[in-house]
Amino acid sequence: MPQYFGKLQTTEQPWSIIGPVQSINNTDRTIHFNCGETSLNISILAPNLIRVRMSPTGEFTNRSVAGRKPSHSVTLPDEEWEIVPFEVRETEEKIEIETAEILVSVKRDRTSIECFDKSGKPFASDCDRALGWRAGATAGWKRIETDEHFYGFGERTGLLDKLSEVKTNWTTDALDYNSQTDEMYQAIAFYIALNPDRAYGLFFNTTFWSQFDIGAEKPGVLRMETRGPELDYYIIYGPEPARILATYTQLTGRMPLAPKWALGYHQCRWSYESEDIVRELAREFRDRQIPCDVIHLDIDYMRGYRVFTWSPQRFPDPAKLIADLKAVGFKVVTIVDPGVKYEPEANYEIFDRGVENDYFVRTAEGKLFHGYVWPDKAVFPDFLRPEVRQWWGELHKSLTEIGIAGIWNDMNEPAIAERPFGDGGEHISFPLDAPQGPEADRTTHAETHNLYGLMMAKACAEGLRKLRGGDGLRPATLRSFVLTRSGFAGVQRYSSVWMGDNQSLWDHLEMSLPMLCNMGLSGVAFVGCDIGGFAGNATAELFARWMQVGMLYPLMRGHSAMSTAQHEPWVFGDRTEKICREYINLRYQLLPYIYTLFWEAATAGTPILRPLLYHFPRDRTTYHLYDQVLLGPSLMAAPVYRPGVEHRAVYLPEGTWFDWWTGECYHGPMHILADAPLEKMPLYVRGGGIIAIAPVRQFVSEQPLDSLKMRIWPGTGEWTLYEDDGHSFEHEKGVWATTNYKVYLEGGKVIVEIAGREGEFAIPSREITVEVVGIGEQRFTDDGTVRRLIFG
Ligand code: GLC
Repeated sequence: MPQYFGKLQTTEQPWSIIGPVQSINNTDRTIHFNCGETSLNISILAPNLIRVRMSPTGEFTNRSVAGRKPSHSVTLPDEEWEIVPFEVRETEEKIEIETAEILVSVKRDRTSIECFDKSGKPFASDCDRALGWRAGATAGWKRIETDEHFYGFGERTGLLDKLSEVKTNWTTDALDYNSQTDEMYQAIAFYIALNPDRAYGLFFNTTFWSQFDIGAEKPGVLRMETRGPELDYYIIYGPEPARILATYTQLTGRMPLAPKWALGYHQCRWSYESEDIVRELAREFRDRQIPCDVIHLDIDYMRGYRVFTWSPQRFPDPAKLIADLKAVGFKVVTIVDPGVKYEPEANYEIFDRGVENDYFVRTAEGKLFHGYVWPDKAVFPDFLRPEVRQWWGELHKSLTEIGIAGIWNDMNEPAIAERPFGDGGEHISFPLDAPQGPEADRTTHAETHNLYGLMMAKACAEGLRKLRGGDGLRPATLRSFVLTRSGFAGVQRYSSVWMGDNQSLWDHLEMSLPMLCNMGLSGVAFVGCDIGGFAGNATAELFARWMQVGMLYPLMRGHSAMSTAQHEPWVFGDRTEKICREYINLRYQLLPYIYTLFWEAATAGTPILRPLLYHFPRDRTTYHLYDQVLLGPSLMAAPVYRPGVEHRAVYLPEGTWFDWWTGECYHGPMHILADAPLEKMPLYVRGGGIIAIAPVRQFVSEQPLDSLKMRIWPGTGEWTLYEDDGHSFEHEKGVWATTNYKVYLEGGKVIVEIAGREGEFAIPSREITVEVVGIGEQRFTDDGTVRRLIFG
């Protein structure tokens, strides 16, 4: 058995390749291929989903194997998928497996896998060299088809399409990242490959260091390699990206519905470092009538960066502060880092309990492992162990019982330095041989490194789910907000994600949308970048443009680093303040629409922010279009990413499009030159688009939603509005309401059909205005009954 080194591989021997198929045998879900010492399994999990596993030794040890170690990213193990019919045919040259949607063909002589859709077009097919291994690594090679483009890969800088790039999956504190950076905070080994015929997805199921080479070393060849003992991946046939994401999130889970306030504007800085500063900040928002729901407290709220403490000088009475902020509509989110200050005999409860119960990671030699982070010498909980997660989750009680509504998990790649921060310590990794995980399932950091942030987020989310509004014994009654910097496939189940330490540069503004789109295409819908840029000083113009773009981020948070200029919406002068107010107002107006998008993400894995290729996968022009984006199905933005630019080219795909601001109508596909003075971010709506608009509020729950406007653009379309109380878990018991709207043209008139309301959530009487843009408005008191409205 070779040694698996995790990130580091010391030998670069030639690859050994799988031998010919000698025999096969089938169970009701899996075909076992006996290829000498090597084993290959193909399992049919759904008509569009197969799992491929290859073990050089013939033994399967990977997580997510029935009856063995649990997987941390796959929530639906093989045996829980409903058995689907498939046919196996054997010929002299190959073995064919056919489901209702795809054909998988395995060549006997050079054991390689080819997949075909029902029209015979290949996808996800192996190269001649198909499956191999060498000391410490296993790999697979896939053919890149003509005109095929690659998306997803989790958190990635640069533009949209990743063809000809190398993408490594190893969670890293990617400080100072730029468009060339490879390893990032998140590691999500999943991609979507698209050509005009179809799309397929591939999830590489390994937590060890892994890497995709997407035709960089050899054009036309995609290599996936893991420094783990077996090859394990899932192929998901689309043919549309939406279907792939629905299946991928069936496999790795979906996000819980966030509290509605988390969709509002968040203000953050490193740091608002005292109670007085925080109160002043809150006052400014309310005095200036700039909506805001959430204030984040960075590391300086703590006593000397000790997690789960408060600085008695700076925050003498946090409970009172939080209660006062609550009274004016603010929620408070606190940062929590994994590094626990190493402080023996100092009565630091968290350190003492952790040592007493042996909760911190030890080295292979059994010594407590330490590194340096904000509190200097620090030790690290082993979040892979359930009892450690439970302890950590419960520690949040000290925060939730004084009213903290959300937790921001940071530095959980984990980021550590070899020497105190003050001495300029270099970043180091945990020793890869450090044992981690529960006794019965003990492994090493080489296998768990990528899971550290995911497991910290899990501990946090599960803790909050027990604590907020509950008492630790009774379940919580309030939804919480969780944010994490690091994560792995499946992170959407526990947390939202932000793109770490970006910079106040136009490049970073430009990169933010493709980054977030690729996260959405990796199953993680609730994502954002620091508005204004974290490091550096934004100009007024950059800040104004960034706030416009930030209005589109599923997570809309402004943040800036220590020692940078202040970056609040009002510090850049009246003109910028006015622009910020207008776009934050627009965000609040769009909340009923955006909340529905969150519900879609929670129930179907749909991205909230979407590249155009998501809705137009047959249109090649969209394949590289990184600088336009769709918020949900109907609203398209074409922001400005350069100083001094007041016009820009906009691509309008097939169909009718309306200018959001002027109502002007266009017939795509076409390019137009849009007018974009600083006050204006070009926005368009598809013909047949339906968008629910609320009155502006200074915070989400300021007033009940007593009036709602449905803006509808002429054409054919359909949309379902989702509503619930926005803060409790009652929706999980059916206390929600959906209302389906349809629009179509008939005999020169625009017809709007409203279906009867479904669900058990009682909506108090309110006024609905249906506006068919450019034609007219009709008003009625909403009683949830069926209506048919005729316009024109
Ligand atoms: C890290 C985070 C950043 C935070 C800082 C201080 O750099 O990415 O958002 O402000 O630490 O906690």
